[in-house]
Parts: sequence; C-alpha cells; structure tokens
Amino acid sequence: MTLSVLSLASEAVPLIKTGGLADVAGALPGAVAPHGIAMTTMLPGYPAVMRAIGKGRLLHSYPSLMGEPARLIAGKMGDHALIVLDAPGFFSRDGGPYADPAGHDWRDNWRRFAAFGRAAADLAGGAIKRKRFDVVHAHDWQAAMALAYLRFAPASGTDKPLASVMTIHNIAFQGHFGSEVFPQLGLPDSAWSMHGVEYHGGVGFLKAGLEAAGAITTVSPTYAAEIRNPQFGMGLEGVIMAHESRVHGIVNGIDTTLWNPETDEYIAANFGQRSLTRRSTNKRAVEEEFGLEQDEGPLFVVVSRLTWQKGMDVLLEVLDHLVGIGGRLALLGAGDAALEAGFHAAAARHPGRIGVRIGYDEPLAHRMQAGGDAILVPSRFEPCGLTQLYALAYGCVPVVARTGGLADTVIDANIAALGAGTATGVQFDGVNYHALRAAVSRTAALYGERDQWRTIQRNGMKCDFSWSRSGKAYADLYASLAT
Ligand code: ADP
Ligand code: GLC
Repeated sequence: MTLSVLSLASEAVPLIKTGGLADVAGALPGAVAPHGIAMTTMLPGYPAVMRAIGKGRLLHSYPSLMGEPARLIAGKMGDHALIVLDAPGFFSRDGGPYADPAGHDWRDNWRRFAAFGRAAADLAGGAIKRKRFDVVHAHDWQAAMALAYLRFAPASGTDKPLASVMTIHNIAFQGHFGSEVFPQLGLPDSAWSMHGVEYHGGVGFLKAGLEAAGAITTVSPTYAAEIRNPQFGMGLEGVIMAHESRVHGIVNGIDTTLWNPETDEYIAANFGQRSLTRRSTNKRAVEEEFGLEQDEGPLFVVVSRLTWQKGMDVLLEVLDHLVGIGGRLALLGAGDAALEAGFHAAAARHPGRIGVRIGYDEPLAHRMQAGGDAILVPSRFEPCGLTQLYALAYGCVPVVARTGGLADTVIDANIAALGAGTATGVQFDGVNYHALRAAVSRTAALYGERDQWRTIQRNGMKCDFSWSRSGKAYADLYASLAT
C-alpha cells in the first residue's frame, strides 16, 4: 500500500536554500519513494519558487488568507509532486525567505508562516479537492502551525485524525511571538494553553507543533538526547521531556545524485576512492580561486553560516596558530557582520595563507569539498550537520566538535581507531580556543603521515551516508503512525 505524505517546508533544494533544511526537504521525497511513500512537498511561493513552478495547476483560491489573497498551485519539483502557496503579499519580496535584504527578520513572519500553516492544514486534511493525505510532516517552526490548526481549528470537511510528524532541524529557531498575535491566528481560546500554543506568555510556533504532533523527530540520535537538557533544549527541554517516548533521532542522509565526487559537474577533476591522487587538481583549483600559496601544508576549508552556533568566533582566535604551523584556510560563508569583518581582517593579516569569500555559492562549496584536505566544523551545537557528511564522501577529512550529528557521524582518529583502521576524522570536546587549537595541530600532524591520512580519507569515502537507511526509517515511522 502506498502512503501519501504531505511534507511542509520553508525551503527545499533545488528551488530555495539557506541551509541544511533545504537539502533535506529536497531529498526526502526521493529517499522515501522506494519504501512505498508518495510524498508531496509544499513550499511558500517565494519569487524563485514561482519562477520554477510556472503556471502550474490551480487547486484553490483564498480571497483572503490571513489578510492576503492567496492560491494553492500544483506542479513538480523534479520527479515529485509540489504544491506552492502563492500569496504575493507574503512571499513576493526581495531578500531572503525569513529576512529583508538588510538581514532583519520580516516583521510579519508570524503572519506569513501562520498563513502557510493554515493552508497546509486545509490541504492535508482533505478540505480542499477532497484529497486527504495519510500523514502530514512539518519541518521546523515555519511549518509547525499546520499541526496546531489541524488540532484546534480543522477546516470543515477535514478528515480526522490525521497522523502527523514534527521534525526539529534546529531547536534554536522557535518562532516565538508576542501574545498580541494570538487573536489574529484564527484559533479558538482553548488553543491558548500550556499544552497548546502558549509559550512563556507569548505564542510559540514550534512549541505548538511539538504539542500537536503524533511523533517528533530530530536529525540525529545525539541531538535527540541533548535537547532534553537546558543547555541544548533552549527552553523547550520540558516539552521534549514530556513527549520523550515519541521523540526519534533520524540522522540526515546526503543526496548522492548531487554530492558524488565521481560525477559532480562543479569540480575540476572527478575522483573516487581509488583515484584519490586526482584530488590534487581540485586542491590547486581552490588555492587559485582563493589566492593561496601552494605548498606541502594542509589546506583547511570552511563552508558555513558565520554564526555563534557554528563556533566561528573561536575559529577566528585560532587562525594565527593554524597559519603558524603551516596550514592555510579557504573560507566560504555569510552571516554576522562582525564575524565577516573578522575573517576579512584575518585574510589581510595573512595574505596567501587565508582566503575568504563572503557570500553564498553552491558550486564553490562543492569545489572546496573536492579540494580541501580537511574541513573545520567547530559547532557549539549541531543537530545533524551536512558539511561533514559531504566532506566524508569527498575525501576531505572532517574536524568536528563532539556534539549532535557531528558526534554521530565522524569517528575520531584516536589511537584505538587508527589501530583498528576505522578513523574517519578528528573530534574534539568543548568549543574553546585550546580544544580547537589542539584539534588543528592534531590534524596537521595526521596530515604529515601520508599513508595514515589516505586511510582516513578512504574510510570516510567508504561510509554510506546516502538516504537509504534514513529514508526507510522515515517510511517506517509514517507507516506506524498511519495505521
Ligand atoms: P545549517 O543548516 O545549520 O547551516 P548544515 O551543515 O546542515 O548546517 O547545512 C548547511 C548547508 O548549506 C550545506 O549544504 C552547505 O554546503 C551549505 N552552505 C552553507 N554556507 C554556504 C555558503 N556560504 N555557500 C554555499 N553553501 C553553503
Ligand atoms: C539545521 C541544523 C543542521 C541540520 C540541518 C538539516 O539547519 O542546524 O545541523 O543538518 O538543519 O537537518
């Protein structure tokens, strides 16, 4: 029996991306399809999404959805079904999905994503076109209100109960708004409770989704355990604990049709485990692109949002040391202005040794994974992390903080793992100057032992982080909920 699942996301590759959520939402339909799941993805109609869907097929018109005219349009995302909420008043704007061109969150984000949730709830439950889905799967706070609407204010014609999953990609982003928005959400008074949408005196979108969901997932087993504690739960640890038996950690996969060094069209030289020497062409390309000197030392790379979560402030502190021991760094990222300025200053201090590209550049991210010797991921918390998975596949050794999905996916090159021939990278404890400095030194020393380094690279490339295992885990979860 085929189950139909409506996946609700605020971004998805290849249409719109600001981070790993897009990679996951874009890959999920293909990941679950072999396991009998027909997934339809629903996205907000940002300009890039509207251009991609073209005219589409009109499913429904709202004269006013949370104050704006809106339409639901059906089309395709690759081989899979796509439904777009076309609401120009909410989504047809310059800037990013969540913030204006200056980087400030859109002031009406609560209304934009409540509208998305309202329309998703109407669609999921069968109130539109009488087509009901078996399961609705909401990703992060932007999609979470769909589950609250289904629970507290289902449209007439909704088939109940509908199985639901709420996935936390990052609990730091919660969609927390003031209590004044509550009367405008179109929810009954009964929704304003500790087990509804109320959260610390305001409205919590993610919290509302967690309270309403049949199952909660997050993107690695370690993060699923970490968010029970205040240090990682960011205020929602109590909610997580209260629903503990329904929380699952399913590690993300990577889309091997997009991320495969043997076929990647963005890179100068394709290679595999048995042709690792061809990486040197890619390394040279990165050195040239970043204006770096060429020598025998390790080339570190970073592809990251430049934020506190990612430990980029600590990385800045160790850059003099990294250069001092003969390393070089190529960094691609965008984010906090102070961090961007810090990396520019470091590059100016170390010409030829540190190269910085501020911005977002997908092809360059591929080239850096293909040419870098090691990627630095010093995250303070990391629900899953994808760059270390791409690195493993590309023979770029990950150097990671031991947290969340980083802890679950990289095997530290300690003496035991080196002896057993299982090491795939370097892990360190605690995101601070001393720990990261030591990890950089340890990586440089390992790099100096060429045979050992090749073994670490090959071990990583042998790992299977494709979607095959996790696609089945999601499919099994949907099936268990839908019965
Ligand atoms: P997060 O979603 O928290 O940012 P992930 O590691 O899960 O972290 O995913 C980040 C994704 O965004 C990866 O696909 C990575 O390659 C990509 N990425 C991050 N910054 C950039 C950038 N400046 N240019 C291109 N790709 C980037
Ligand atoms: C979030 C997390 C990241 C995760 C991604 C996809 O952006 O920060 O760790 O890999 O979602 O699940």
